[in-house]
Amino acid sequence: MRNLIDITDFSPEELKSLLETANDISEHPDQYSDSCRGKKLATAFYEPSTRTRLSFEAAMLELGGNVIGFSDAGSSSASKGESIADTAKILSCYADIIAIRHPKEGSAYVAGLNATVPVINAGDGGHCHPTQTLADLLTIYKEMGRLDNLTVGCCGDLKYGRTVHSLLSALTRYENIHVVLISPEELCLPEYMKKEVLDKNGVSYVETTSLESALPELDVLYMTRIQRERFDDPAVYERLKDSYILTPEKMTAAKQTMRVLHPLPRVNEISVKVDSDPRAAYFCQALNGKYMRMALILKLLKETQTVNEHNHSDVLVNELFCDNPRCITSIEQELDHMFRPTDKKGMFRCIYCERNQTR
Ligand code: CP
Repeated sequence: MRNLIDITDFSPEELKSLLETANDISEHPDQYSDSCRGKKLATAFYEPSTRTRLSFEAAMLELGGNVIGFSDAGSSSASKGESIADTAKILSCYADIIAIRHPKEGSAYVAGLNATVPVINAGDGGHCHPTQTLADLLTIYKEMGRLDNLTVGCCGDLKYGRTVHSLLSALTRYENIHVVLISPEELCLPEYMKKEVLDKNGVSYVETTSLESALPELDVLYMTRIQRERFDDPAVYERLKDSYILTPEKMTAAKQTMRVLHPLPRVNEISVKVDSDPRAAYFCQALNGKYMRMALILKLLKETQTVNEHNHSDVLVNELFCDNPRCITSIEQELDHMFRPTDKKGMFRCIYCERNQTR
């Protein structure tokens, strides 16, 4: 099956084609209203969601298909201890395609290994959120007219903000991208993202704690929420939660051509007074998410004969153990602990959550 677990599962050509299809759908929705007649999408959401789940559901309904699913782990048999692997096998009996959101990193990868229909990662803990990136790319393309030659500022919770991780991975595919990472020191981008995504792909970046100093040079400002649900210590969240608040006064320092994106939901990191600024693109971004998810469903249902590569020939099985408490292996005891060698001698990466481990 062809899955979308990580945004890099798709080539730049495939991303371009998805953008084109999404644009066409937005202009000619009637031409697509029967495209998925007789098909079912299963939404398996173990974590809260408004945009992702409902835009997936709207996407499938507008393509003429149907939707089944659950929006709360407590109302599924996960509450009785059913594993992700078994759930993926069962949903494959009932649906033609699965969108899964789960709080543990690597959960969608496990679902993809076990399902017999395409699996879409709708957010796995603080790890990845590739369909949000599809919405982000369409928004940047529509607003800026290009996906290259951009200075992109990512602001807020860069440690746990899975949308930033997926967006940065996607941006490495485009020419002349400069990234400004704006966060409190405690919430800076994880090392594996800096080394394995930005450095490895030759993307230039700087880190700063100051939104004000970064603003004037940005073409795109990608604001993010401080992810309360990922903090072990509520006191740390309370201290950091208001680190950045974008206001109309701050926007005076930004270019007139800059666009503000936010995956939403926002708490108070963007004042509602910014909403009427023509540079605010975050509500269009949510609508773009529906069109991109429509394009994605069409693509994956067409490509059921194509197989995602799961080359495990260089993988160490149960020789190392992942000590990331947010990894799916921390709760699903029957999973093999699998690690791939990295470029650094003696350093291995968990294939589920991508955290490094030394041997
Ligand atoms: N952007 C996003 O993932 O929103 P939801 O959590 O509401 O799905």
